[in-house]
Amino acid sequence: MTRSQKPLTRQDFPSGFVFGTATSSYQIEGAVHEDGRGPSIWDTFCREPGRILDGSSGDVACDHYHRWEEDLDLLKELGVDAYRFSLAWPRIQPTGSGAVNEAGLDFYERLTDGLLARGIKPYATLYHWDLPQPLQDQGGWPARETAYRFAEYARIVAERLGDRLASIATLNEPWCSSLLSYELGEHAPGLRDRRLALAAAHHLLLGHGLAMEEMRALGKKADLGIVLNLSPAYAASEKAEDQAAARFSDGYLNRWFLDPLFRGEYPADLWETFGEQVPDVQAGDLDLIRAKNDFLGVNYYTRAYASADRQARPEGAEYTHMDWEVFPQGLTDLLVRLKDDYPVPPILITENGAAYPDERGTGSTVHDPARVAYYASHLAAVAEAAQKGVDVRGYFAWSMLDNFEWAWGYERRFGLFYVDYATQERIWKDSGRWYQALLTGAPVAA
Ligand code: NOJ
Repeated sequence: MTRSQKPLTRQDFPSGFVFGTATSSYQIEGAVHEDGRGPSIWDTFCREPGRILDGSSGDVACDHYHRWEEDLDLLKELGVDAYRFSLAWPRIQPTGSGAVNEAGLDFYERLTDGLLARGIKPYATLYHWDLPQPLQDQGGWPARETAYRFAEYARIVAERLGDRLASIATLNEPWCSSLLSYELGEHAPGLRDRRLALAAAHHLLLGHGLAMEEMRALGKKADLGIVLNLSPAYAASEKAEDQAAARFSDGYLNRWFLDPLFRGEYPADLWETFGEQVPDVQAGDLDLIRAKNDFLGVNYYTRAYASADRQARPEGAEYTHMDWEVFPQGLTDLLVRLKDDYPVPPILITENGAAYPDERGTGSTVHDPARVAYYASHLAAVAEAAQKGVDVRGYFAWSMLDNFEWAWGYERRFGLFYVDYATQERIWKDSGRWYQALLTGAPVAA
């Protein structure tokens, strides 16, 4: 019997392995005008016609800002060991610098304490893309100054919560907040300029390094690290041009972040390809960027399938509603490669999951068999990597709730719980019950 056919149990994972689920502030909170929150680049972006598929925004989202207690109760019932959430910078510093808005910080304190009271470990992310708009008005991430503002914000959070949070990640997916946002134009602020995007990437990494330094100096208990989205690249064929395309994809998606963080240098091949567009790297930057992390968070959804003509699709592949290929082997390969190629710290899978067009139906549970299969195969891939010697210590399902899926609005559902946006009801999906059974050992309901 192969691993994928045998039902998984906690025993298939290393001892102490942490199972959780994840969300982010702008995607679930709503309440964008409450308690002194300032505007973020996503509030602005959502108001620009044509940016969001369904013309929506995170104004209300899952109304989690008001329903957080009910949501924490659901997490408890789900049986997770940990919950990964992000803090909205514009709630804490409405203009991105200067005085703290206590009401904003209080919200995350209530959330943290609420998790601890339920026996759930709080895993925080400081930046999940909601940059205060005033900082964008001063240049955003392409401006070096933003990195210093970020470190100041990190210190504010760590000072207040650093002894209660189990873990603090500085950035979520800096690839998205630089290249996808400033070069590919798909995320806020929606620009198309590679030079600005590479400057943004460098200043995000610098911000990470500066924030780590600030937070380390406080000596709080939380583990500190960063979360990257990584997609292993596979060439569509042996042809030299397809191999070169795979090498470029790997550089653009993965090495541009991994190399400075874990080798203290930018990848030479891409540096050459980017020519005049490369960022201004100042003396000492790379030492800050490569400082020790307690963990590396890996978000994995799919692989990159690279070909010179960019059209190739792998034969017989299966896709999710995001049109992302279901490829669990990529997760094992990626983890083994990280171990082999970089001196990485312990790894957490900080996101993994799939969107499918779920329908509420009339029953008490939403049926999502494809998502159950996705989770089963990807968790098995993680267990396999652990068996191959990768030091992987946790897994967070993306996401707890259906939520605001950025440029796709509410048209893509990733939750373990279905959200009926008209009523804000949370409804268990079969995948939620399946995860609960894995976590608690309860039988999966028929
Ligand atoms: C990664 C991002 O961190 C998260 O915000 C997003 O919803 C998921 N990918 C799915 O696209």
